[in-house]
Amino acid sequence: MAKVISFISRKGGTGKTTNAINLATTLHHIGKKILLVETDMNFTLNTLRKMELFKTKEGTAGFEILGSNDHEVANELMEIKESKRTDIIVVDSAGKTTDEGIKKLCLVSDIVIVPTSLTQNDLLVTYQTVTDLAPARELNPKLKILILPNRIHSATNLYTVRENLKNLNAIILPLIVPQKNLFVNFSTLEAEKEYYPVAQEILKYLS
Ligand SMILES: Nc1ncnc2c1ncn2[C@@H]1O[C@H](COP(=O)(O)OP(=O)(O)OP(=O)(O)O)[C@@H](O)[C@H]1O
Ligand SMILES: [Mg+2]
Repeated sequence: MAKVISFISRKGGTGKTTNAINLATTLHHIGKKILLVETDMNFTLNTLRKMELFKTKEGTAGFEILGSNDHEVANELMEIKESKRTDIIVVDSAGKTTDEGIKKLCLVSDIVIVPTSLTQNDLLVTYQTVTDLAPARELNPKLKILILPNRIHSATNLYTVRENLKNLNAIILPLIVPQKNLFVNFSTLEAEKEYYPVAQEILKYLS
């Protein structure tokens, strides 16, 4: 059965899309069968994929990117999980997800990743997100909630990062995604080499 890794947070702009696509391209590059699902109704990643394919004219489509929405994604995932065509499903959820949507998504997920910077606003949102995940956690005790420090200034050391996040009732990943344009100017076809350590660390929690 395919494993599901969902990027969730209670507010927009924390880095869900940036990290979901970098994770998906990296895992695809190392040979995993990937499906990327976006519930953002702007379909940012689908649109980018179409543009990239138009430009390359090579017809290498990479992994499949499926557009869904908050209400239907959990049911769709349950069906897709059973199929053998995928190893890992990466879900980029929309910033405006309902409580019910979050809960249902958590029930079909193996891992939830909450990206957060260390700004006061993002930290508040992250504490709220982890609190809001509590009911889903009770229903799905195997669910792993990972906090991914994102957009961290390169001069900030890991100790400071961990101090800021230590009271969260979740697993704090022992690395950071720096604030860098190379993660932002992402492609849906090419992997970013610098993201490999992050993907490898996340994979450890899938077993
Ligand atoms: N590691 C990073 N380095 C630099 N900029 C980043 C990084 N991660 C995210 N950003 C920037 O922060 C902004 C928000 O990121 P992103 O779109 O990934 O957030 P999101 O959680 O998907 O937002 P939404 O909930 O609105 O979909 C974007 O402008 C993105 O380029
Ligand atoms: Mg997004």
